[in-house]
Amino acid sequence: MVDKYQELAQKRKTVLEGGGEKRVAKQHEAGKFTARERIDMLLDEDSFVEIGAFIEHRCHDLGMEKNKVPGEGVVTGYGKIDGRTVYIFAQDFTVMGGSLGEMHAAKICRVLDLAVAAEVPVIGINDSGGARIQEGIAALNGYGEIFRRNTMASGVIPQIAVIMGPCAGGAVYSPALMDFVFMVEKTSQMFITGPQVIETVTGERISHEELGGSSVHNRMSGVAHFRAGSEEECFNQIKKLLEYLPNTYREKPPEVECSDPLARVCHKLNSIIPSDPNKGYDIKEIIRDVADEGTFFEVHEEFATNIVTGFARLAGKTVGVVGNQPKKLAGCLDIDSSDKAARFIRFCDAFNIPLVTFVDTPGFLPGTQQEHGGIIRHGAKLLYAYSEASVPKVSIILRKAYGGAYLAMCSRSLGADQVFAWPTAEVAVMGPEGAANIIFRKEIKESENPERTRAEKIEEYKKMFAHPYVAAARGYVDDVIEPKETRIMLIRCMESLEAKRGQHFSKRHGNIPL
Ligand code: HXC
Repeated sequence: MVDKYQELAQKRKTVLEGGGEKRVAKQHEAGKFTARERIDMLLDEDSFVEIGAFIEHRCHDLGMEKNKVPGEGVVTGYGKIDGRTVYIFAQDFTVMGGSLGEMHAAKICRVLDLAVAAEVPVIGINDSGGARIQEGIAALNGYGEIFRRNTMASGVIPQIAVIMGPCAGGAVYSPALMDFVFMVEKTSQMFITGPQVIETVTGERISHEELGGSSVHNRMSGVAHFRAGSEEECFNQIKKLLEYLPNTYREKPPEVECSDPLARVCHKLNSIIPSDPNKGYDIKEIIRDVADEGTFFEVHEEFATNIVTGFARLAGKTVGVVGNQPKKLAGCLDIDSSDKAARFIRFCDAFNIPLVTFVDTPGFLPGTQQEHGGIIRHGAKLLYAYSEASVPKVSIILRKAYGGAYLAMCSRSLGADQVFAWPTAEVAVMGPEGAANIIFRKEIKESENPERTRAEKIEEYKKMFAHPYVAAARGYVDDVIEPKETRIMLIRCMESLEAKRGQHFSKRHGNIPL
């Protein structure tokens, strides 16, 4: 009997040692923690329960029959974060570079299946050289199994991808199918084909970091949503994010105690809009002032900064916030900002998170780059996402709300449950200058003093349309409120919509313009 226990202990030891001392030391030298250290850092103390520790590959090619691969290069199981259960997998780079073979994939699939069955979030820590070359097509098939599960789990449980090393080839698509991608500066990279392949095929020379580092994917491609300076910081960001999210689409997000008075008047907001209509301001100041305790957890902070997305709380309840950012591109909508906001809106809608939209946009960004890049297709995603969302939707028009961009920012016609406007709001087809130049072109041209006539016509147009009252008269705006009342109104309004269930049609699914 004792032998049996010794055998178990020996087998367990082998698994726990991963790729061995040398490779662990190399991992540490590279500024990275091991898979097990990462799990320990992220989860509540002693809460990790491992599954599949003794799984082995069954490959007999290229010397693999002699190659023992502890834990198959991935640590899988479940544990708790702040007392809430999560399922987790962490690829072990010290074991064959975290490369993914048939059974490595099977371990990840099991975690995904169990997370869906248990209806709790799943977290995947990726640190992998991609498909295990020795296993060929079986490894590729493994990726396919994971991708399909990621897709089926989408909208059922939150899926969080953490990139903590080089992620090449198939290793990047599972994260891309998950809801949020976290990266760590200097040590994490994502690319489909690495620098070597690129040089062979195109002759272009580029470093791993320049090709797919955290800065590239947070600022330029939008593949990643969060960037951390260290692995510890990254885990803290994940914990913060989870505080705002429910475990499943069947639940509402967790509520926290609110120490911020519900009837707090936001005096600062009455003077936040600059008197010069062409001057920008920081939308985040408004969001923070309105939110409980001034807290706003931004998502996609560095990407498409002309729109801001993130989570906040009102009366202790999570809301998803979308706001045009007037200090960047004057808050215009463009391809990237439409993609960014649409994806965020769909996440919130999937997980019962009400939407608050702050509107100050002069329109869609004009230009051939945008038109040829498909702004019609991308802008349509935003229209689609807002129209489809059945969670409570409340919009506040702060200043400019012109044309198609007005509609796209959760207008009444796209299904906003309530729309408020500040007295500074201008809800119109376009800005006064542009409008006057078109509709009064003849009068301006034929006038003895065209510039004076232009100025007069602009003023005339402003008086007629550059305010919220035409929209309010038609019921497109429910009320015009003083900015300082915004928090109070939002809280009351969200409370009134608490039981909203939304309308769902019987169909297979819609066809979002991807
Ligand atoms: C098998 C691999 C591997 C792989 C790395 N290793 N990648 N083993 N299959 N894909 C092994 C190495 O042989 C080495 O083993 C150990 O992992 C560490 O790798 P190093 O190269 O020493 O580490 P480093 O210098 O840090 O470079 C890491 C790396 C590099 C950038 C990830 O290993 C690399 O470029 N690997 C190949 C990446 C790639 O092209 N993958 C695409 C696969 S195709 P030892 O024994 O020496 O420790 C794919 C298609 C799927 O994924 C498509 C689905 C849509």
